[in-house]
Amino acid sequence: MHLLSLLALLPAALANSLNVRATACNNSPDLCDKSYGDITHLGAHDSPFVGSSSSDMSLASNQYYDTPTQLSAGVRLVSAQVHKSNSQWRLCHSDCNLMDAGLLSDWLGDIKEWLDDNPNEVVTILLVNSDSASASDLNIEFKNGNITSYAYEPDSLTSAPTTWPTLQKMIDSGKRLVVFVPGLTASDSYPYLMNEWTFMWENNYDVSSPSDFSCEANRPTTDTATALASNKLPLMNHFLYSTDLSEIGIEYPNSSYVSTTNAASGGVGNLGTTASKCKKQWGRQPTFILVDFFNRGPAIDTVDNLNNVTNAVGRTSVSSSSTSSSDGATINNVFKGLVELANSAKEGATPSMGNWIWVGGNWNSILGGGIPMS
Ligand SMILES: *[C@@H]1O[C@H](CO)[C@@H](O)[C@H](O)[C@H]1NC(C)=O
Ligand SMILES: *[C@@H]1O[C@H](CO)[C@@H](O)[C@H](O)[C@H]1NC(C)=O
Ligand SMILES: *[C@@H]1O[C@H](CO)[C@@H](O)[C@H](O)[C@H]1NC(C)=O
Repeated sequence: MHLLSLLALLPAALANSLNVRATACNNSPDLCDKSYGDITHLGAHDSPFVGSSSSDMSLASNQYYDTPTQLSAGVRLVSAQVHKSNSQWRLCHSDCNLMDAGLLSDWLGDIKEWLDDNPNEVVTILLVNSDSASASDLNIEFKNGNITSYAYEPDSLTSAPTTWPTLQKMIDSGKRLVVFVPGLTASDSYPYLMNEWTFMWENNYDVSSPSDFSCEANRPTTDTATALASNKLPLMNHFLYSTDLSEIGIEYPNSSYVSTTNAASGGVGNLGTTASKCKKQWGRQPTFILVDFFNRGPAIDTVDNLNNVTNAVGRTSVSSSSTSSSDGATINNVFKGLVELANSAKEGATPSMGNWIWVGGNWNSILGGGIPMS
């Protein structure tokens, strides 16, 4: 090649390599200088409870892709339920007999590996503490997951800061894992384990009708003005439960409506319209949005809109329509049987007591005593 034409190519090559090297934080160069609290983080509700719509194991699941895949696709908050079972802290859905996604420490180890591989990302964990693990109990699990060196420690465990550090600052300090546990009695010995209610507030979460999504505060206060006047960060729950088993007190995700629930626009209860409404009412964008089946919608579109991100980088794309799963938790067939039986009862069949018992298997431990017959 002629030297001159080679030289002509240089500026483009240089520009390209500069682009590649431009630092992105949470998938965008525009977010590096933004405060952790001022951007919107996409949250995967019940992140480890993974199923597939094509398998029998899907009914109690909340996501179609496992936690590392969620993170690679742009999820930046992962929530889970912690239960004590056989003296172990495990991730179970409502009850370890129903759905068991393994040890908390193993899941934390997976997140740690993901953080190792993705040095410019800030991730948040939200742990529902179903069997009241103490800060000391949880710290043992975080230690076993080798993840404590990433954990961010706030200046105070008793009040929310007026501003959070920027993503870049957190990345530079290496403290880019933020951990919240609702209702935790925080301990100065484990200052990275934050009581969610000191730092955040949420809207309602127990929604089974698409017209019931609300921007009003629900926890830890029901006074929206008070919540907004505090320094606490808003978490917007946006997932829909099925009503099929509500008679017997069981809720499971409404997956058939999720393409609307998680959409950026269109249809009653869509995510984009709800987020705009809340942003307007609150005078600020939600810091976190928590969804089921995050790939549907896809939910990330609404989060990108809120963050003004138009050219996200470094994301692995996942299908927004197919629902294939990379991993599965152990889900008891009891649950599937219950759903089918409740459906047939609704359609007019009168299941016999024998059917309830057959399908129930060990449902006594799940339901805490029994199914009310009517
Ligand atoms: C933590 O690190 C130790 C030592 O490298 C390793 O043996 C262990 O498997 C890791 N734990 C997890 C949950 O990854
Ligand atoms: C899911 O929600 C839609 C919209 O409200 C409703 O029509 C449908 O019956 C629900 N499905 C289940 C299984 O609850
Ligand atoms: C996105 O743009 C809107 C409107 O200019 C602004 O209010 C908001 O703070 C921006 N959000 C982020 C994360 O940059």
